[in-house]
Amino acid sequence: MTALDARPATTTLRFPTGFRWGTATAAYQIEGAASEDGRTPSIWDTFSRTPGKVRNGDTGDVAADHYHRMSEDIGLMRRLGVTDYRFSIAWPRVQPTGRGPAVQKGLDFYRRLVDELLEAGIRPVATLYHWDLPQELEDAGGWPERDTAYRFGEYAAIMAEALGDRVATWTTLNEPWCAAFLGYGNGEHAPGRTSALASLRAAHHFNLAHGLAVGQLRGTAPAAEISLTLNLHAVRPRSNAPEDLDAARRIDAVGNRVFLDPVFHGRLPEDLIHDTAPVTDWSFVLDGDLDITAAPIDSLGINYYSPTVVAAASPSPSPSSSPWAGAEGHVSFLPAPGPRTAMNWPVDAEGLYELLVRLRDDLPGVPLLITENGAAYDDYADPSGAVKDPERVEYLHAHLTAVHRALADGADVRGYFLWSLLDNFEWAYGYSKRFGIVHVDFATQRRTLKDSARWYADIIARGGLPA
Ligand code: FCB
Repeated sequence: MTALDARPATTTLRFPTGFRWGTATAAYQIEGAASEDGRTPSIWDTFSRTPGKVRNGDTGDVAADHYHRMSEDIGLMRRLGVTDYRFSIAWPRVQPTGRGPAVQKGLDFYRRLVDELLEAGIRPVATLYHWDLPQELEDAGGWPERDTAYRFGEYAAIMAEALGDRVATWTTLNEPWCAAFLGYGNGEHAPGRTSALASLRAAHHFNLAHGLAVGQLRGTAPAAEISLTLNLHAVRPRSNAPEDLDAARRIDAVGNRVFLDPVFHGRLPEDLIHDTAPVTDWSFVLDGDLDITAAPIDSLGINYYSPTVVAAASPSPSPSSSPWAGAEGHVSFLPAPGPRTAMNWPVDAEGLYELLVRLRDDLPGVPLLITENGAAYDDYADPSGAVKDPERVEYLHAHLTAVHRALADGADVRGYFLWSLLDNFEWAYGYSKRFGIVHVDFATQRRTLKDSARWYADIIARGGLPA
């Protein structure tokens, strides 16, 4: 089938030839089949079963049942005309306990996925870790323990061996900031621990795990593009007052440079070490680690949803467990003005532009991919069966316009992956938030293209945006 395009009259903002137009998903959020074919629980299976952690007690047991509907979902993408698909591999599906040999049935699922994508002319972009750590590794200490990084290196070797000849782009980690600081700092995400020290140890071990995986992938799949996805914070100080600038610096250190510096410069940010001195001495960083973390990569993935506005702390005490180690007591977070999505996240495309031009300047020569961008709204199928989501179209239009402007100003952006292909399990929000451009009726698993999906197909067919 051809892409759903109503041929355009005028395309005013044209993207470069070869620009990658994708959609993104993650294993735990869509696959379901949580205990099939040898898969064992991940930290998200455990967390979602812990009362009070996930809205409505939702779990990923069934999710969008993608494990059984994978071909149908690839068919949808083919209709949309996407060039690339970013998915993640569930570690506990291919190496159930996080140790030892791989399970063939788990590998076979991803082999089929990749083969069917290639047959559909869609480039596979595989993320090795989108937050679903095998529970057994958490029981052994999880990401605050160094050994987890080495386990991840082994798992990367398994996947490189299985799919290295067919996956175009490998992303080692998705948003290690969330995994470290929400998972181990404030406990909003699995595994739900609340320790500033544990979150900083986890952050370092994520960097180490990333570097170890790069080594494995490079050795086995030398032709593949190797990448890392960060949810960089577009940090804005409230004013140029020195105290507000210092608040922004602290958040930039623990939100951005905690990963950027080890990965791209082989060093830890000095100011972060200083800011976090009350909670850690960083002695868990061993000689040689920063050479491993800095293994060269081919591109950087950026997930962007909204900016972070900060000011010097007001006298009110900050919450005791915060994901902002070293910033507590010093920083206040302010609501950004303007419209909000159903997540109550501000809609602010300028933040994406700011990030892209910053990376143009800070990381010259590093190609950039927007590996996630999108919005949740309270979508529903109307009596005629249509799903009208004009706010999402507006959100996407504004953000793609910002990407285009950054390109025109010299940012080397190679592609855009819309989050998400399907409505799915939105972590602590369960199924209450819909990010898909394809509506999923979770009772029947029926998929319906939202208006935004038709709009995106048109953008892809045009290779750009209408006025
Ligand atoms: C990102 C996650 C992704 C999704 C979006 C809304 O932080 O990477 O899985 O939940 O947010």
